[in-house]
Amino acid sequence: MIILAIESSCDETSVAITDERKILSNIISTQIAEHKIYGGVVPEIASRRHTEAISQVCNTALKQAGITYRDIDAVAVTFAPGLIGALLVGVNFAKGLSYSLNVPLIPVHHLRSHIAANYIEANELKPPFMCLTVSGGNTIITEVTDYTSFTPVGRTTDDAAGECFDKTARALGLSYPGGVNLDKIATLADTQKYPLPTPHTENPYDFSFSGLKTAVVNLVHNKNQKGEEIDVPVLAATIRQKVCDILIAKTISAVENKGYKTLVMAGGVSANSELRARMQAECDKRSIKLYYPPLKYCGDNAAMVGVQGYYEFLNGNIADSSLNATATLPINYR
Ligand code: KG4
Repeated sequence: MIILAIESSCDETSVAITDERKILSNIISTQIAEHKIYGGVVPEIASRRHTEAISQVCNTALKQAGITYRDIDAVAVTFAPGLIGALLVGVNFAKGLSYSLNVPLIPVHHLRSHIAANYIEANELKPPFMCLTVSGGNTIITEVTDYTSFTPVGRTTDDAAGECFDKTARALGLSYPGGVNLDKIATLADTQKYPLPTPHTENPYDFSFSGLKTAVVNLVHNKNQKGEEIDVPVLAATIRQKVCDILIAKTISAVENKGYKTLVMAGGVSANSELRARMQAECDKRSIKLYYPPLKYCGDNAAMVGVQGYYEFLNGNIADSSLNATATLPINYR
């Protein structure tokens, strides 16, 4: 089944052509260079750039896949959650295409598609499994009981892990997207030098990152005011270690207590080198099979939207022309 998939929830305009779990093309036009100037994504600029890019990105995706509009069986699109103006560009483009081609319109939840990024190269992977989804806007542990059935067991009560990485990286003077640059610059030496707080949550599987973020920002301001130098690679490593400690401890405990033997990681932060290595080591100790997406599918892309779209279609999740973009929506929405 040939799906034309569209992703525009944040600062990447992406169109992919997929056939079930197979990727025929996956074109991504990123706006990072532009948002970098402002230290983060400016929603209004993001929407405008999506509008400018989407037709060209779509044509390139078709060309690279070696097909034409006539070969498309369905159109899938990220409709929630995300930046509302950015989502609207993709949703309206998708609606127009599905109407003019007379093919089904498949609405795809952004977090579900991040999880589906794992199906692309791991042919044997199928639910049920436990999943940690960590991105710029979300941090959530979910039981994935079927391709379209999700039971959240814990989520962030304030900031996402990616937000914590991005804002602490900015305080350290690193450019946007901070998480990637913080990961690159972090050295393993002396992570005792800057003690950071460990957050507490009522639900043991919930997360809280805003206190950690504030602690780092205050530490940096304090040092600056006193004219003291900060060892940036060491503080970066301390932040990374603390975030990983929290993500790993809670996720492993959820996997063990709920009796799962398979763990999947998804989202932009699943690209983090320490998170991958340490989660792998913890899973190996417990004979838990760990999956995480190839680096090229960790960030926002339309390939994962097409793959999840296929399963949504099989489950009868088809939208009509009243489909609207939604800024926030739980992963287990009905
Ligand atoms: O999934 P994603 O591309 O967009 C959202 O849906 O949010 O995730 C973006 C987030 C950003 O916060 C970015 O800094 C973070 O993923 N990120 C990383 C790494 N690569 C991307 N964080 C830590 N280490 C990385 N290597």
